[in-house]
Amino acid sequence: MLQRKMHGVWKSRWTFVLAATGSAVGLGNIWKFPYITGENGGGAFVLVYLACIAVIGLPIMIAEVLIGRRGRQSPINSMRYVTEEAGAQPTWVGLGWMGVVTGLLILSFYSVVAGWALQYSVSAVSNGFAGISGSQASARFGELLGNPSRLILWHSVFILMTTAVVATGVTRGLGMVARVLMPLLVVMLILLVGYGLFQGNFAEAFSFMFSFKYDHLSWHGVLTAMGHAFFTLSLGMGAIMAYGAYMPDHANVGQTVITVGILDTVIALVAGLAIFPIVFANGLEASSGPGLIFESLPIAFGAMSGGHIFGTVFFVLVVIAAWSSAVSLIEPGVAWLVETGKFNRLTANVILGGVSWLIGVAAALSFNLLSEFKWLLGMTPFDFLDFMTSRVLLPLGGMLISLFVAWYIKKEVIEEEMDAEGHPMLEIWLFLIKWISPALVAIVFVWALWGSIAKLLGVE
Ligand code: PHE
Repeated sequence: MLQRKMHGVWKSRWTFVLAATGSAVGLGNIWKFPYITGENGGGAFVLVYLACIAVIGLPIMIAEVLIGRRGRQSPINSMRYVTEEAGAQPTWVGLGWMGVVTGLLILSFYSVVAGWALQYSVSAVSNGFAGISGSQASARFGELLGNPSRLILWHSVFILMTTAVVATGVTRGLGMVARVLMPLLVVMLILLVGYGLFQGNFAEAFSFMFSFKYDHLSWHGVLTAMGHAFFTLSLGMGAIMAYGAYMPDHANVGQTVITVGILDTVIALVAGLAIFPIVFANGLEASSGPGLIFESLPIAFGAMSGGHIFGTVFFVLVVIAAWSSAVSLIEPGVAWLVETGKFNRLTANVILGGVSWLIGVAAALSFNLLSEFKWLLGMTPFDFLDFMTSRVLLPLGGMLISLFVAWYIKKEVIEEEMDAEGHPMLEIWLFLIKWISPALVAIVFVWALWGSIAKLLGVE
């Protein structure tokens, strides 16, 4: 039975742009992009990341929006609809399920990091960064990581914030976030870039990010860059599919997706240009890992006049950006539970938020009590969750989505949805999702897997 419940549809494609940008722009841009760029040697990594956005990310994002808009339900039920319509094997619905699980796994460690930003908002408000040096900033971050109850407290606060929004219905409020607060975040980042120009080592930062030294890039770096393209665009787990379900029929999907992609990419690059000048001017290590922004930015806020105000505003905005992303991580599962007719939004939220909270506790303890607990592929729970989602599940989900759309959905349906019959861009896009994007993901997977095996065998 082909069932397609009609949810409401947004008035214009701009609402989709706002919601999708709210989902895409988050900790991935401000926290993760700079630190993984630092860990992977800079320029060459950035170039591979940009190429992955253009050749793999954007085409797959179009495919994801298309499924959502065709199915007009939660990712699980949208997949069910398009699978039946295409006459494909029901196992494809598993993609929807995989997305729900991936979203909850990401939320669990995402919330821990958002908790760090919450703690830093509070420290900034009480002028806690005044005159702080590089080594003091690192020590301060280390203290936070060593405090399990503090980490769990903020993680819990963030999960509560997320479930509170989703419980009241996603779309309300999110528009405001994207329209007003996101531009403000960009202003704050540009302010920090300005600070770096005068007080930091901007020249070194620029050359670090944009000079392509390929010998710094490993197979693992390429996998990280590709995985991050999925992570930062919120692809491969149904978040964009869930929002695509509300997109008006005649909105141009291609243009819309490119707008979201450009906004997301620009914000990541500006974040890098804000952080690295401070890193290099203060003798910090670019490759110091997940603490990078928390060890570098307080130095700038502690040194500038009015820094406690700017610092507070900045970290609060980071929390808000993370919040609008977190909402989209849990929404696919919530929408599905509500569609089953057995749960209301609140109960659905409490259940799924509870699952993520529990897994997140293990992520929070990875920095202290469980730091030696490394029997998940030799990683702590935090690293394992990040690895499994960003580097495995999202690219795998994205690859399967592109294969499904390209090989199973009928050409007429695609043309109808894309409203671009015979347009050369349509053919190019189809070619990309049929062959290029999935093949590239597969090659990077095999390459990275071979790299790990070679390392284990000691033949690298
Ligand atoms: N894109 C978000 C960020 O960059 C994270 C995210 C990943 C959100 C996957 C939804 C789905 O922070």
